[in-house]
Amino acid sequence: MERIDPFGLKAEDFFKNFCGESLTFDDLCILQPYTIDFPVSDVSLATRISRNIEINTPLAASPMEDISEYRMAISVALQGFPAIIHYNLSIYEQAEQVRRVKRFENGFVKDPITLGPEDTISRAIEIRNSTGISTLPIVSKKKLVGLLTKNDYSGQKHAHMMVSSRMVPLDRLKHQIVRLGDLPAEDSARLQKANDILLDSHAGVLLIVDDSTEIDSLVTRTDIEKSEAYPDSIKDRNNSLIVGAAVQTNLGEVKERASELVKAGVDFLCIDSSHGNSTHERDVLQYLKKEYSHIDVIYGNVATAGAALKGIQWGADAIRVGKGVGSICSTSQVSLGSRSQITATYACAKAVREYCFKNQIEPSVPVISDGGYSTFSAIGKGLLFADVIMLGSMLAGTDEAPGKVIYDRQGRELKEYKGMGSLEAMRRGSAARYDEEDGGDMVGEGVVGSVRYKGPVSGWVPKIKNGIRKCFQSLGVRDLSSLHEAVFNGAVLMERMSEAGKREAGIHDLTEYKMDLPLD
Ligand code: IMP
Repeated sequence: MERIDPFGLKAEDFFKNFCGESLTFDDLCILQPYTIDFPVSDVSLATRISRNIEINTPLAASPMEDISEYRMAISVALQGFPAIIHYNLSIYEQAEQVRRVKRFENGFVKDPITLGPEDTISRAIEIRNSTGISTLPIVSKKKLVGLLTKNDYSGQKHAHMMVSSRMVPLDRLKHQIVRLGDLPAEDSARLQKANDILLDSHAGVLLIVDDSTEIDSLVTRTDIEKSEAYPDSIKDRNNSLIVGAAVQTNLGEVKERASELVKAGVDFLCIDSSHGNSTHERDVLQYLKKEYSHIDVIYGNVATAGAALKGIQWGADAIRVGKGVGSICSTSQVSLGSRSQITATYACAKAVREYCFKNQIEPSVPVISDGGYSTFSAIGKGLLFADVIMLGSMLAGTDEAPGKVIYDRQGRELKEYKGMGSLEAMRRGSAARYDEEDGGDMVGEGVVGSVRYKGPVSGWVPKIKNGIRKCFQSLGVRDLSSLHEAVFNGAVLMERMSEAGKREAGIHDLTEYKMDLPLD
């Protein structure tokens, strides 16, 4: 292969050259291997979060208290990548969070919530407040007798009235009812046909009934609108959004938690431990793979090639890489085992890639590089080697992150962001992540801090996605597999950036400047 420059080194030569050094994002200069002959919009961001789950954006929202609950999970799934619901929640609460995501955009809402004609309107209001669902088929002795939507009542005026007096009765619903037998049997063709009927009907909802007029399912106009507005959204076979959930390394607890999460419809699990490569994580992984072979499991966190390979041998469907590098992380001050993120990611990704190739593991095991990402170019550099970048701080300031906007003394808008290894979070359950037992001598591995407020995910994440596309385009590659091919085959050359080079690469020699992106 022709060298594009006499001074740059292929990835393997580069890292061999710096054997014994832990390098990270700013240490790396990446040389452009190919001529750019396509626009940014031609770049595909498709990848896999785990062996069997395809996603449309190479990101994941970290399983942290201040990042991933159902609001974040819904918003990022619409943008093409999953969130992993954290486990500092009771088993019931975490499963309920998963359910809320799965219910959000269902295509067919199977088993919809119903009311009876004798119920009061106040019951409909309760359901609407607790689940956000306001379209309620009304059934009597299992048979459909009417429909109640938010347009049919006023909370103040009708709360005490019976549903029967406000619902739209069956004889006025004819145009929005279809028999199951009149729809195609195959899932996606059935959904397509149901959506077509609904769009032609002027109605907001189409009710699907069986031969004895029992309600089977429904489809809503808002669901159709949502899926048109978010072409990158990631969905399962039933057209529900994809979501993951975290479990601990305590096998007894995991058995109960995983069972509820799977019942709630979770798509994949993530064993959330900062100390990967332990026998207790192995035991949990092997238990989950035996009990739920259809559910992919993410294993980590690791930072060495050996630990990554053990994860695969023990059954992992994705390897999560990152030790001591998160923005809120104080591990490097209180413990050992940390490694700078670019060296860790390269070492693990190379080993995993070669292992999967040699052992014909197909689809191969994706590598998730987790922690330390704060700029678009850092994400681009992580993706030279990894399949997915996991974000904490870059999502913590969005509206959908749990917690309220706070103000500092200068009046700047901020949101709190704390480590799962901060004492505060550990006392709520994440102590196991750090192999700590809740007690007086717990040593925190994380801090409580804040980040700049970034507005809604729908405004901020498309910028990150475009930033990633620009990184790909700047190297002349159109997708992640071409990028990996180019990196691991030696077409992409790299150099170590000097300290003077880092100063030059930053913004310099200005008396003041304004950044147009909320990057801290
Ligand atoms: P960030 O994107 O740089 O903010 O890093 C987020 C990552 O830091 C998470 O995905 C976790 O892997 C890791 N992490 C979360 N909480 C802690 C902590 O308290 N100490 C150390 N690492 C943490």
